[in-house]
Amino acid sequence: MILRPATAGDVRGVRALERLLFGADAWSAASVREELTGPRRTALVVCPPAGQGPVAVVAYVVTAAAGDVVDLHRVGVHPDHRRRGLARRLLREAGTGEPMMLEVSARNDAACAFYAAEGFVPVGHRPGYYRDGSDALVMRRSARA
Ligand SMILES: CC(C)(COP(=O)(O)OP(=O)(O)OC[C@H]1O[C@@H](n2cnc3c(N)ncnc32)[C@H](O)[C@@H]1OP(=O)(O)O)[C@@H](O)C(=O)NCCC(=O)NCCS
Repeated sequence: MILRPATAGDVRGVRALERLLFGADAWSAASVREELTGPRRTALVVCPPAGQGPVAVVAYVVTAAAGDVVDLHRVGVHPDHRRRGLARRLLREAGTGEPMMLEVSARNDAACAFYAAEGFVPVGHRPGYYRDGSDALVMRRSARA
């Protein structure tokens, strides 16, 4: 697997993974393009070597610099490639120098467990924040060496 910065050429592959992972809440193709190539963004993808495997992108992360904090917009891993440390690797490659903030559905057990394992702690709670009525947890972690 190859981990590299995302380009506009990854829009289709990331959009396909978005739809698989987030269904009705998936980013549109235009949003994916903006997230992968827009200002202040760090976007990384994990891909199989060219032409190998059924999917173009198996994992991705997008963060956005927001002053002295970095917002984590997305991290996603194809179901066939989970629990192999890909999300951990992507998050670390995306940057550890600044504090990081994120919002996650309180019902998303895998993501909550992942973020807790990566050192995030809950700092806020937004009732009914998501389309399915679930609450958002706001999580933060300090800058790491
Ligand atoms: C959350 C997600 C990104 C984790 O990706 P992953 O590549 O499987 O995670 P990693 O292999 O890097 O896991 C690192 C650690 O996080 C924790 N973790 C990850 N997934 C977990 C799960 N399902 N249950 C419990 N702990 C979990 C574990 O401590 C794990 O270490 P271990 O495997 O040595 O026990 C993945 O499940 C996913 O894509 N979910 C759907 C998309 C999503 O909800 N994204 C987050 C919101 S944007």
